[in-house]
Amino acid sequence: MMKPKNGHRARGFSSEHFLDSDEIIRELDLKGCETVMDAGCGDGHNAIKILEDYDHKGIIYAVDVYDASIEDMETYKQDNNAENLINIEADITEGIPGVDDESVDIVLMVNVFHGFKASRKLDEAVDELSRIIKRDGKIAIMDYKAWDVPKGPPTHVRSSPDDLEKLFNSHGLKKIYLNEDIGESIPEGKSHFLIMFAKD
Ligand SMILES: C[S@@+](CC[C@H](N)C(=O)[O-])C[C@H]1O[C@@H](n2cnc3c(N)ncnc32)[C@H](O)[C@@H]1O
Repeated sequence: MMKPKNGHRARGFSSEHFLDSDEIIRELDLKGCETVMDAGCGDGHNAIKILEDYDHKGIIYAVDVYDASIEDMETYKQDNNAENLINIEADITEGIPGVDDESVDIVLMVNVFHGFKASRKLDEAVDELSRIIKRDGKIAIMDYKAWDVPKGPPTHVRSSPDDLEKLFNSHGLKKIYLNEDIGESIPEGKSHFLIMFAKD
């Protein structure tokens, strides 16, 4: 498995090697002061890029269930005096401690959501994301298209944008944005979609 470029320990693949972080972050239309969460941050490269390259002054939460990833993010925080970076080791489906209700402007999840389908914890994940986002906040999910292609997770754990829309609608959230032309170029087209939800 290819190691993350920043040397951080990560469970699963870091998307840094095959997805363009700037293409993803530009979708969030950040102003610099929002409270942002990189949920399932892995090596944290998206959180770090927002912090460093977008000169973000608001809080950035980096959340992952893998203790080593969060340890490495803590080392980064100390080495770089990144006071607005808050690293939390947590299983999103069981609740993210220390994050208040309706306190986050933007949640970003890159290549994470299919894992909740695999673990049959979709409802728990959406409930927790819904709890933490502000009334005018948004949840941005980028994941592999539900295609039967060799690269990426098994087809049966992938979801289509329509599947996710039905799921989020059942939790009182509405689709506000969909981009199906994003990600890596593969023979079938672009590998990913990015969908955003907000409170109804
Ligand atoms: C494929 S990696 C993607 C990492 C990063 N978002 C990226 O794009 O490189 C999936 C990450 O989600 C984390 N993860 C999986 N299930 C989780 C859960 N229930 N709660 C928190 N993190 C989770 C894994 O530990 C892993 O770091």
